Amino acid sequence: MKKLVLTLAVMALSLPAAAADKGLTEEQMGLSRTSVNIDPDPATFEYSQADPSTSGVLPRAYPGAPPMVPHMIADLLPITRDSNNCVACHQQPDQVGKKKVKGDPTPLPASHYTSVKNNALNMGRYNCIQCHTPQANVNNLVGNTFNRK
Ligand code: HEC
Ligand code: HEC
Repeated sequence: MKKLVLTLAVMALSLPAAAADKGLTEEQMGLSRTSVNIDPDPATFEYSQADPSTSGVLPRAYPGAPPMVPHMIADLLPITRDSNNCVACHQQPDQVGKKKVKGDPTPLPASHYTSVKNNALNMGRYNCIQCHTPQANVNNLVGNTFNRK
């Protein structure tokens, strides 16, 4: 019995080593199934540089989806627990539930507060770009058949 346990332990130890030896081929890295080195000079792309005052908003992917960020955010980063530029414009508890004014920052919805009355943000959501992502004009890396309707 002892011998069997020892053999199993040795096998368990040698397994990860065997997997690491094989490694990943270039074709297995990334989403596309070709070598990552096939295009040494990939096309550059830029996120929107639009100012919030003129950006307008983007169509929602589906009801309940986090709206995508229509304006530049590079100058507003990083977002930390204690320093968050996004809330300077979007945290407007007195606007919750009221009709949105075009061109004004969309007010954070009630779901983003622990208490709207006390203007207390839900800190579980402090990292806005975990869910709200800026967009760049690029082709999809993989196809998909999602239909917004
Ligand atoms: C200077 C003020 C300002 C700052 C700072 C700001 N925003 Fe905005 N944001 C706006 C305005 C204004 C709009 C809406 C424009 C409109 O309705 O025409 C907007 C729109 C949005 C929308 C789309 C809302 C919708 O209704 O579709 C999201 C999401 C958003 N911002 C996220 C962010 C995040 C994340 C940050 C921080 C990285 C941020 N914003 C910082 C002013 C700001
Ligand atoms: C865990 C994901 C998540 C995080 C983090 C998050 N949001 Fe949202 N947000 C959502 C979802 C989902 C919606 C749409 C549904 C809803 O209203 O709750 C939304 C809606 C919004 C809206 C549109 C409200 C409306 O009336 O249409 C704005 C503006 C917004 N969020 C801004 C922010 C900002 C700014 C932060 C950072 C302080 C943030 N969100 C953090 C998921 C998130």
